[in-house]
Amino acid sequence: MKSIVNYEQALKLLKAGKLVALPTETVYGLAGRIDDEKALKKIFQLKKRPFFDPLIVHCYDKKQALSYLSEKQPLIEKIFDEFTPGPLTLVAKKNNKISSLITAKKQTVAIRIPKHPLIKKILKQLAVPLAMPSANPYGKVSPVKSQHVLSSFKNQIPVLEGGFCQKGLESTILKIDFLKKKLLILRPGIITKENLEKFLIKYQIGFKVKYKKDPFQPGGGTSHYKPDSAFYIIESEKTEKEIKSFISKKFPKKILKKLNLSLSSQKTAREVYSQLRELSKNKKSIIYVQKKSHQKSGLWDTIWNRLEKASSGYFKFF
Ligand code: TXA
Ligand code: MG
Repeated sequence: MKSIVNYEQALKLLKAGKLVALPTETVYGLAGRIDDEKALKKIFQLKKRPFFDPLIVHCYDKKQALSYLSEKQPLIEKIFDEFTPGPLTLVAKKNNKISSLITAKKQTVAIRIPKHPLIKKILKQLAVPLAMPSANPYGKVSPVKSQHVLSSFKNQIPVLEGGFCQKGLESTILKIDFLKKKLLILRPGIITKENLEKFLIKYQIGFKVKYKKDPFQPGGGTSHYKPDSAFYIIESEKTEKEIKSFISKKFPKKILKKLNLSLSSQKTAREVYSQLRELSKNKKSIIYVQKKSHQKSGLWDTIWNRLEKASSGYFKFF
């Protein structure tokens, strides 16, 4: 099979219950139709993902998304209206049209309405939503270009070429606590806490936004997004030169590689996964990055959330 497929081929394969890697505005996903148990099982199997870690359901539009939920809440619709199509995933109570394989037996489903024109076109034609985790082996770095998918899965999965992903990090996963009047960020993402706060103020909605750190949240553990070589976070105000000399003494046989975070948060978000992949191509590499105190809030929170999970450890010295 040819590894890069065109739009018509991708659609045909998906219709037939096969898996195809598709571009989205965040990262590439591994897609299979939600009404085909075999396709769903294959997603878990190919990614080596445990069955207890649920999948996101990708819908064409709000109408389709709402047709899979058992709760009808004006706030859910408002959030879809404001942030989708786009990089936001909403967790809400599912109805019985969603199989428990997708949700890992949870009573809630994660729904996302993506924006990339190619996946929109596919979802429209297919008229069935797609279950789609990021197209990487479980626990590894997510792909932001077709080549990443091809190399991670050794050309075993057909990929629809969609260029370099515009945003570069995954969607924000949000759950609404109606009783406590809170928007809970289960996974920080491209839509930031500040974006959500602005939205609440704009519509005078009396809710608060909170990060919900939950180690039992699947994919919410401490280890994820791992590059192929060791990666250390340096928590220190020391100079570049001092840091370099410290690491090279500690790991004399390794080749030092520095992760570059000097660009704007948007540009960094877009290319940080690609950088991690590039820098870890040589297995003898050791990647390091210095934690900067000003890189807080907004998209930096998301970038650092991923880097902390990707890292092999910290060095603290002052
Ligand atoms: O940007 C994205 O969201 C990408 C693109 C491909 O759309 N998808 C993605 O999927 O990141 P994945 O499977 O790599 O991460 C989805 C996360 C997992 O951590 C999973 O545990 C969580 O969503 N999740 C799925 N369903 C959930 C649910 N019902 N409740 C809580 N978390 C859920
Ligand atoms: Mg993932």
